[in-house]
Amino acid sequence: MRAAVIDRYGVPELVRVTEVPRPEPRANEALVRVVAVAVTSADSRIRGARFPRGFAIPARLLFGIRRPRRPILGSAFSGVVESVGLKVAGFAPGDEVCAMTGMAMGAHAEYVALPATKLARKPAAVTHENAAGVLFGGTTALHFLQDKARVGPGTSVLVNGASGAIGTNAVQLARHFGATVTGVTSAANAELVTSLGAERVIDYTTTDLFSVSERFDVVLDTVGNLSITSGRRLLSPNGKLLLAVANLGETIRAVGNVAAGVTPERVADVEFLLRLVADGQLTVVHDQIFDLADMVLAYQRVDGGHKRGNVVVRP
Ligand SMILES: NC(=O)c1ccc[n+]([C@@H]2O[C@H](COP(=O)([O-])OP(=O)(O)OC[C@H]3O[C@@H](n4cnc5c(N)ncnc54)[C@H](OP(=O)(O)O)[C@@H]3O)[C@@H](O)[C@H]2O)c1
Repeated sequence: MRAAVIDRYGVPELVRVTEVPRPEPRANEALVRVVAVAVTSADSRIRGARFPRGFAIPARLLFGIRRPRRPILGSAFSGVVESVGLKVAGFAPGDEVCAMTGMAMGAHAEYVALPATKLARKPAAVTHENAAGVLFGGTTALHFLQDKARVGPGTSVLVNGASGAIGTNAVQLARHFGATVTGVTSAANAELVTSLGAERVIDYTTTDLFSVSERFDVVLDTVGNLSITSGRRLLSPNGKLLLAVANLGETIRAVGNVAAGVTPERVADVEFLLRLVADGQLTVVHDQIFDLADMVLAYQRVDGGHKRGNVVVRP
């Protein structure tokens, strides 16, 4: 099968699309033909070994010290079950599914094998591209807004980085839960963020966020340019600061009205997001859809830090 392989950490141009053996599913696994897979900011961080301050050593212990332990990255994908292991019940060849493969990655390829317990059924009303696109940013936005801040009717939410993978989902999910949303992005994305449900957009290129007099019940930072101290200045009394990007020190100090950390991958969350997409209540924003052969271009776009929503690749 063809796959995007990385032999060492570094620039997008190091990625090779080449033939590799097709994985063999174990007894508890399904082999899935990948139809669409996201290239995420996490893939880009791992490929480039660019981790928030303090995480370089733990991340390299996890992902490989000198070179990536798993040469095929990619986690959030959608596809069709090709075969299942002997112990798999509930899924059969031909089923349309999507999933996140977590630390195992391996989805930037024509086929991926993964434990069947990680699979969610893809509703027919959701395209493979939308399913692959919604998983990464959607689960992160859901985790922070719901688990960490219990966003609900009347909550005022500020989303910093409102036009990215997390941001486009966060704006819509916060609105879905009844909140009022202010999005921070550049002027070029103001219309997009408004169309997703933000009542107000702050253009960070012309307006200093700290010159704004309003205070917010929830501040979600997806950019990484708010510290605990600066982020707290934007909060209303009893407000909550959510740092989707935090360095090691901030992660350790994220207690009380500050939350950080890694989003869990839960099938129930994926199913919840897919239902919203199927019902037309959640729009998946696509920056660009590439062929697997153009993986270098896909990574270059993600590395730029200015994609709108999601970059998806079709193997
Ligand atoms: N904690 C977790 O579990 C978790 C999970 C997933 C991701 N993350 C992290 O979250 C971060 C964001 O991920 P993502 O995939 O959503 O990123 P992304 O899609 O690459 O975000 C790009 C967007 O950010 C906007 N942006 C860039 N600079 C900005 C600024 N100074 N102010 C406001 N908006 C700005 C850009 O808008 P313009 O083009 O208009 O500038 C662009 O639309 C990554 O660092 C990732 O590692 C954490």
